[in-house]
Amino acid sequence: MGDPVAQYAVRIQQQEREIKCLSAEIEKLKNPETHGISSQLNELREENAKLKYRLNILKRSLQEERSECSKTMININQRLQDIFGSAIQAAYPDLENPPLTVTPNQQAKFGDYQCNSAMAMAQMMKAKGLKVNPREIAEKIVQYIPDNDLIQKTEIAGPGFINVHLKKAFVSKLLTNLLVNGVQPPPLESKKRVVVDFSSPNIAKEMHVGHLRSTIIGDSMCRLFEFLGYDVLRLNHVGDWGTQFGMLIAHLQDKFPDYLMVSPPIGDLQAFYKESKKRFDEEEDFKKRAYQCVVRLQSKEPDFIKAWNLICDVSRREFQKVYECLDIQIIERGESFYQELMTSVVKEFEEKGLVELDEGRKIVFAPGQSIPLTVVKSDGGYTYDTSDLAALRQRLFNEKADIIIYVTDSGQGTHFQVVFAAAQMIGWYDPKVTRVEHAGFGVVLGEDKKKFKTRSGDTVRLMDLLDEGLKRSMDKLKDKGRDQVLTPEELAKAQKAVAFGCIKYADLSHNRINDYVFSFDKMLDDRGNTAAYLLYAFTRIRSIARLANVDEAMLRKAAETTEVLLDHDKEWKLGKCILRFPEILQKILDDLLLHTLCDYLYELATTFTEFYDSCYCVEKDRKTGEVVKINMWRMLLCDATAAIMAKGFDILGLTPVERM
Ligand code: ARG
Repeated sequence: MGDPVAQYAVRIQQQEREIKCLSAEIEKLKNPETHGISSQLNELREENAKLKYRLNILKRSLQEERSECSKTMININQRLQDIFGSAIQAAYPDLENPPLTVTPNQQAKFGDYQCNSAMAMAQMMKAKGLKVNPREIAEKIVQYIPDNDLIQKTEIAGPGFINVHLKKAFVSKLLTNLLVNGVQPPPLESKKRVVVDFSSPNIAKEMHVGHLRSTIIGDSMCRLFEFLGYDVLRLNHVGDWGTQFGMLIAHLQDKFPDYLMVSPPIGDLQAFYKESKKRFDEEEDFKKRAYQCVVRLQSKEPDFIKAWNLICDVSRREFQKVYECLDIQIIERGESFYQELMTSVVKEFEEKGLVELDEGRKIVFAPGQSIPLTVVKSDGGYTYDTSDLAALRQRLFNEKADIIIYVTDSGQGTHFQVVFAAAQMIGWYDPKVTRVEHAGFGVVLGEDKKKFKTRSGDTVRLMDLLDEGLKRSMDKLKDKGRDQVLTPEELAKAQKAVAFGCIKYADLSHNRINDYVFSFDKMLDDRGNTAAYLLYAFTRIRSIARLANVDEAMLRKAAETTEVLLDHDKEWKLGKCILRFPEILQKILDDLLLHTLCDYLYELATTFTEFYDSCYCVEKDRKTGEVVKINMWRMLLCDATAAIMAKGFDILGLTPVERM
């Protein structure tokens, strides 16, 4: 019976049986008809809440035990929450939904983590007429802390904070795990399907900085979900349908009469759009023909479909250039994809009696929303609302998505709110089961804090912006004399990594909700929280081992055989910082705010610098400069830091380079 894996397996089996029983019991409790008597109902509800709570704890510890057998990283914060959760539950079984807060401590003298529940619990009890000193509550909680392998000791401080000191051996072992197995995501409860709707520019109109934000933020969200093991569908909901195609096709017919035989050389689709818009506004005949073109396109006449495709292709090639620069994978599934579905969606709303007529329009009011959706215009055409209803339905029922995220500017917030409310009203999904969310973001501003424009007042073309990024990043590298040191290939790699890395990072490191100021000078600065700084820091960390002639194989061997010592304050601080990675990712999973990851990576880099400044990794002879001693456990700390940084870069879509 000495085999720990076998022992785990037995326990896991036992726990699984218990979970099954508990689940069955909860199911029974859920159905009030079988327990008709209303006086019992309250009792049952309470019991139910407790059972659910226990079930959750069991599920999680089951998962964690599994993860200890496997290779995934542990979320220390979560683990502490579970421990304190069960301590509070055991100490105060009658308190309903006791508040549970565990946070990492910034100041080392207060321990490593802190539980602040006692104060809020005292408030709750006071509201019930019970006066209890929060310190007493804290003491009682501490008495009920269950057996565990990570807490060294606890202290009660101030009005009732519980400070937690972690066990060195535990932290050290987690670091060894990380070094041996690499950065593995925390375990997933079940594989969920995620749809991320992002980028989504409009055909024949310019792809602007707003789309750039959506592209960068959406891609990073996808990367996070992918790393965590979700099944991710990246969708480009391009605006490729609508009445504007009428005038575009009419203009195409006039300007390139042989478009069916010879591919029309439309170089500048935006100019082409402007020309046709001008004619549409000024020439009555043209306008009429444009309307006819829409009808013929919608009835799928082959020549008109061909014209439409030609126009879409020109735009597509432009978009693709941007995606290639930024290394974005995305599937195009534009508004046109949902044409047929729109008809049946309108029918579904009509059949359920949810459609009202308003001056020839068909509108839908959703509960709690003052603005209605327009599902059919007075000319019979569909709208942005109709296509989003159809898209949502398709994603829920055909794609079977568990999570759907829309990344657009916050200006579209109301639109999505109403669409989601209408979808819930008609019964397509239950927000408690399916997560459907608009992840909005602020406007991009120029350095003058006004809307981002070129000097002449035009909208900035994205490719011009990316090209300028490349130029500026090369200037910067040359300023620092890097062109003298790096090979031409290395220099070109560094140029791209810095340029596109900086543009992405500048966006991601700001809270997406806020407007953000686009400044090449700021983003290319290699001091402060920028990609330039982090990429440099990363190459420096990577070079430590190289300069000491410690190669990858030696590091891998050392990971298995050398204990990671954490006796020095700065080693301890760095070790704990490294292990906060899973808790950072968990937070982002909940709020979709990626700047938390940027802040964390910056903190990791600065914590590393503190460590490196006070702890020798390599000891050299003062006179000869020769390496006399390598402190291998510190090399391992460097290696673990670099591994986390690399994974963080990966999620942000940054490409680190070995030399820059
Ligand atoms: N094409 C739209 C725009 O440029 C964004 C589309 C976002 N996605 C959606 N399902 N509505 O504003």
